[in-house]
Amino acid sequence: MQKAVIIYSTTDGQTKRICEFLVQKLKAKIDIDLFSIDDIDQVELSFYNKIIIGASIRYGKHSPKLFKFIEENIQILKEKFTAFFSVNVVARKEGKNTPDTNPYMKKFLQLTNWQPNLLGVFAGKIDYPSYKFTDKQMIRLIMFITKGPTDTSGSFEFTNWKSVEEFSDRLLQN
Ligand SMILES: Cc1cc2nc3c(=O)[nH]c(=O)nc-3n(C[C@H](O)[C@H](O)[C@H](O)COP(=O)(O)O)c2cc1C
Repeated sequence: MQKAVIIYSTTDGQTKRICEFLVQKLKAKIDIDLFSIDDIDQVELSFYNKIIIGASIRYGKHSPKLFKFIEENIQILKEKFTAFFSVNVVARKEGKNTPDTNPYMKKFLQLTNWQPNLLGVFAGKIDYPSYKFTDKQMIRLIMFITKGPTDTSGSFEFTNWKSVEEFSDRLLQN
């Protein structure tokens, strides 16, 4: 059986939920482990056939930990089958929801010299009640400008689980 590892970089948990969904979809056919990027020291990458990384966007950026991880492991990432997906709310919009059209994915590919075999972009979640005051106001402003939900008592999941499922199918095909 093939062995794969999924590594997630999350702040509020939605990227982890997407990774857990992928694990459920894949585990019958691939021997699969799941780790937070915070626990990366415990991961022996050479052990796996496939390395899958998911990371979310906060104020326009993926976490610096993601870039550090890529820099430190670029050689092995180039040798293995690899996949990367980004989670952000810009991706809730048609025309910004594919690897070719999502601005954060385009920027990510410019910032690293890693070229994953498979790319994905998934819309995330806005959970106003869980945000600190400043974040709540900032997100509300961004949502107002981009015609998204502005009711700060609400929680809005934009993730298209069908498209996550399609991504899991593509992971199996490769
Ligand atoms: C403080 C904050 C800043 C965010 N900044 C952006 C942003 O600049 N662009 C974007 O598309 N989404 C942005 N988001 C939305 C997140 O990408 C979205 O909530 C995602 O689901 C977070 O994933 P996580 O729960 O795995 O951290 C932001 C969310 C928060 C709470």
